[in-house]
Order: sequence, then structure tokens, then C-alpha cells
Amino acid sequence: MDAQVLPMRHVIETQPFTPVELERLFNAADVLRKNGTRDSALHGRIMCSLFYESSTRTRFSFESAMLRRGGQVIGTENAGEFSSSVKGESLEDAIRVIGYYADVIVLRHTDEKSSKRAAAVSQVPIINAGSGKGQHPTQALLDVYTIRRRRGDLSNLRVALMGDLKNGRTVRSLAYLLGKYPGVQLYFVSPEELRIAQDIRAHFIEHKISFHEYPEIEDIIDSIDVLYVTRTQLERMDEDDREKFATASYRLHRGLAQRMKEDAIIMHPLPRNDELSTDVDTLPQAVYLNEQIENGLLIRMALLESLLTQ
Ligand code: NCD
Repeated sequence: MDAQVLPMRHVIETQPFTPVELERLFNAADVLRKNGTRDSALHGRIMCSLFYESSTRTRFSFESAMLRRGGQVIGTENAGEFSSSVKGESLEDAIRVIGYYADVIVLRHTDEKSSKRAAAVSQVPIINAGSGKGQHPTQALLDVYTIRRRRGDLSNLRVALMGDLKNGRTVRSLAYLLGKYPGVQLYFVSPEELRIAQDIRAHFIEHKISFHEYPEIEDIIDSIDVLYVTRTQLERMDEDDREKFATASYRLHRGLAQRMKEDAIIMHPLPRNDELSTDVDTLPQAVYLNEQIENGLLIRMALLESLLTQ
């Protein structure tokens, strides 16, 4: 692969990606899809997955991506309990030390600033695999890649992001990325209390990116190209909100989903709760249990190769 796919050293948030860099990354993922991934491009390299928050897909996806390309993996899935943070070690000290053991660190942490803090002291690339309510850039990369593969062109799309937009980090990373494409229209669909945060709205206003806020999906469901459903982030809420939003206040079920355009796409970063009914899974528009997963693996392989072979 062309070592210059991405000039960046760390992957912390999505704002710095340019459409040209995104295209290069997506093309690299396409090449892997076409030529197969069981080469040894990452042979001799070690990835550390350092996860202070729970994960199924993201951690396994990164680890599988590394192993499939001939690399090796060390890590812990519950760093809060199984690392020296129990003994009061700071994130910064842990990152400094792990830099001697691994060539790249994939970090998931409760603190929004964790990846920035880590990058400030790290001698190896840091990949943010989810930072509190902040960002989850590789999820957004795989999401945009998935839309591109289905739709071909990313411009002029009408994309609805639905759910807990206040506490979800995937929608924040995704909104920044989608806003880079000309003519994209974003529809933020959420209860009033779970609106997308002010910093994103300010960014969209400043960059003259078209967005609308809706309390319900019903009014727009038949005209959108992409519906991105997210769960309520109960673990990030205070007691009162947790009680109030214990049952999802929005729900996509088959009857509603069938009103969508034939070539529309239904996405979800997973895990899902009751906001996305299982009877939607078999609709041809649903990509969350197959294409998003497969594309995540390819994007992470391409990303790791780019960061590790510069
Ligand atoms: C998301 C996350 O961790 O932010 N999951 C994922 O990585 N695919 C979404 C979520 O937890 O709701």
C-alpha cells in the first residue's frame, strides 16, 4: 500500500480528515477487499488494545484486523481493573510505558480528552477507539465507507441521525465527517433533552452545512437516503435521565422502515437495545449486521497499515 495514505500520526477525532485522505483510505480498503487480507504486511508489528470501557466489536475488530495482516496483539479489555490504574497509575504513565512494548496503541477510555492526553506523551501512534461522550473516529470512518460503497457518491445525501445524540460519540464523529461532503443535509432526530451538542451545531453553522432538528422520524422517513439509529447511552446519564429514558423514546420497526426508499440504508453502530427492532434485520436496506462489520475490519486494516508503515 502507498505509505502516504494518511499523513497523520494519531487518529483522535474526525475533523482533520480531508475528503482526499478519506478517499485514499477507502481505496486502500477496496484494494484489501479485492486482493485478500491474509498477507503479512503487519508482520513483526505489535498493537496494544487498552480498553477502559466495555467493547465487543471495536476491540475484536481491531485485534482481528491486526492478526489477519500478520501482526500481533497485546492488551486488556478491562484496563480500569486489570491494569496498574488500580494502583493509581495515570493514563500518561501507562502510555509512556506501553510505547516500549507496542508499535500502536488503540485506546478506549471514559475521559473525552483521553486520546489527546495519550497522544501528547506517546512515542507511538494512538488510535481513539472511543473517548467518553467525545468521539469514535474509526466507527465514523467505517460508516462513511459503508455509505460510499452502497451509494457510490457521498455528495447531496440526506442523512438522518436518530437517538441519543447528546451522549453518543459515534454520531458526533460521523456528523463531522459527513459535513465535509458537498450538499449533504443532516437531520438530527432526538428528544429535546438528548439533542446534538452545541459544539456540533456551532460547527455546522460556521461551515454553512445544512442541518435540521426533528423530534420524530415519521415526517422524513420516506425521503432520506440514510437512517443512522443509535441507542440511548444510559450508562452516561444521571439517575433521573436514566429512569426517564429507560425505554427508548424512538423505535424503528419493520412497518416504519418499509416506508423508506428502496435504495436507502439503515445503519447502527451497535450494540442495539429496543430502538431498532429485530424485524428490520432482514430488510435489504439494513447493513448493521453485515456490511458495517465487514467494512470495519477492512478500514481498520487499512488504517493500521497506513500508521505502521510510514
Ligand atoms: C459504540 C460506542 O462504543 O460508542 N459502539 C461501537 O463501538 N460500535 C456505540 C454505543 O456504545 O452505543
